[in-house]
Amino acid sequence: MRGKFKKAFLLFLFGALGGVSLAGCSNLFAVDQTEALQKTEIRVGVVLYNTEDPFVMRIYDSIVACAEQEEEISHTKIIVDVLDSEYNQSLQNTQIEQLIKEKYDAIAINLVDRVEASNIIDKVKDAEIPIVIFNREPVPQDMNKWNEVYYIGSHAAEAGEMQGKILLDAIQKGRKIDKNGDGIIQYVMLEGEPGHQDSILRSYHSIKALEEAGLKTESLAMDTAMWQRAQAKDKMLEWIEKFGNKVEVILSNNDEMALGAITALEEKGYLDEKTIPIIGIDGLDQALEAIKADKMLGTVLNNADEQGRAIFSKLYILAANKSSQFVLDYQSTDKYLWIPHQIITKENLK
Ligand code: BGC
Repeated sequence: MRGKFKKAFLLFLFGALGGVSLAGCSNLFAVDQTEALQKTEIRVGVVLYNTEDPFVMRIYDSIVACAEQEEEISHTKIIVDVLDSEYNQSLQNTQIEQLIKEKYDAIAINLVDRVEASNIIDKVKDAEIPIVIFNREPVPQDMNKWNEVYYIGSHAAEAGEMQGKILLDAIQKGRKIDKNGDGIIQYVMLEGEPGHQDSILRSYHSIKALEEAGLKTESLAMDTAMWQRAQAKDKMLEWIEKFGNKVEVILSNNDEMALGAITALEEKGYLDEKTIPIIGIDGLDQALEAIKADKMLGTVLNNADEQGRAIFSKLYILAANKSSQFVLDYQSTDKYLWIPHQIITKENLK
């Protein structure tokens, strides 16, 4: 029997019920020890939309670290093979066909195009290879095509709301954001890929949070920089040229683009975030450094390490044919698991 996400249970209960939680990375799930591991070797594939995205690579690194830990604990050989889809959905489809042909035990998929999951799901279903999709959320119709398709991610709306909250908290603590005193916050928004759930919902909910708190806002400009630092820098240089000091806040759908905006500001002589506050999302190390150095007002932790741990746990259990129950207090259903975000500002950074 294969594992399914179940509503959170209290860990101690499993001792009494005869289940154990594996130590290390698989301890997100309680595994029934009466079902012996049926394989001495498992092979999982991890297919990434591209391998240059720092956030996605952090998830991948966490998957690999967990596999290494688990191998030591379980004495099962665990092979994790990674494939780079190079922003190309048809290449990704071919790569997944290859993994199916080679009979991988389970596959983690970071879709290139999140609305293109349907064919992939048909193929893995035929081959009975379970998949865990992550970071780029398929539409529900595709998710519902087969029981053994899972999604692990974070709620995009929550990240946007938290960005709004970072700004509201700063205002409440006396920070003057409305530089020109017109009663309206003039902002620019650096957006991720068009069509990505994290671009659409983060942008929408960050502004909604501000407006719901009674602030008036005005978008001077919003445009995609495709999650990328270099593109964001160029965009920001263009916007500084156009709007100069009129920009009162820079909201960015991720930290990479926020870091690009910082470089642009620095080049143009805006020396720190006290001039124009910048808020990102992800919690990348360089963003944390920028916050400490007063170059960024804050970010929202999109917990890549924990997402990687959850993805590995699910893959492992699926691949090993163990039954499992989800035990940590994360929001989950049979098919979805959500890792919560967290606000990061200078105040809670050590
Ligand atoms: C992250 C971005 C990343 C994107 C890739 C988002 O959740 O915040 O940094 O580029 O996922 O799909």
